[in-house]
Amino acid sequence: MLIERVIAEDCYALRESILRPGQPKENWTFEADDDPRTIHLAMKDGEDIVAIVSLLPEVKEGCSWRLRGMAVKEQLQGQGIGQQLLVTLVAMVKDDLWCTARKDVHDFYLKNGFEVFGDEFVMNNLEHVLMRRVRS
Ligand SMILES: CC(C)(COP(=O)(O)OP(=O)(O)OC[C@H]1O[C@@H](n2cnc3c(N)ncnc32)[C@H](O)[C@@H]1OP(=O)(O)O)[C@@H](O)C(=O)NCCC(=O)NCCS
Repeated sequence: MLIERVIAEDCYALRESILRPGQPKENWTFEADDDPRTIHLAMKDGEDIVAIVSLLPEVKEGCSWRLRGMAVKEQLQGQGIGQQLLVTLVAMVKDDLWCTARKDVHDFYLKNGFEVFGDEFVMNNLEHVLMRRVRS
């Protein structure tokens, strides 16, 4: 398997099926998807995209980049693929990152250098927590 930079459209299928099943397109496409600064990464098994993540130039409380759309195909979860993709993405920028993490997976981000900041909130009927990864 190889990590490759891709375009937003390449991320749509997994975003929809893993993160927002049954939801309209506006729920799994992002305003900055086609911004030239945005980075979309995919883990590919041949031509098959098995995991995705995006980094968007959205500023929040001093963090310059928003991590969004992190998803691994269901049958391949728990094998280190998500972490490989996240580590590669984090290494591509120098500034601090933030994301809204689903509460039930926020340990995944804690294990990868993120910390919680701010209160928990509910989005799409799921508990979320704001997280950031600050460069030391
Ligand atoms: C969350 C997700 C991206 C993690 O990717 P993954 O490939 O399954 O995770 P990895 O195998 O790389 O795990 C890396 C570490 O994080 C931990 N981890 C992964 N998923 C976790 C979860 N749901 N809860 C707690 N810890 C988790 C692993 O145990 C592992 O820790 P270890 O190194 O101590 O064993 C993936 O499971 C996924 O797509 N889930 C469904 C969609 C989703 O929730 N996306 C995130 C929205 S904020």
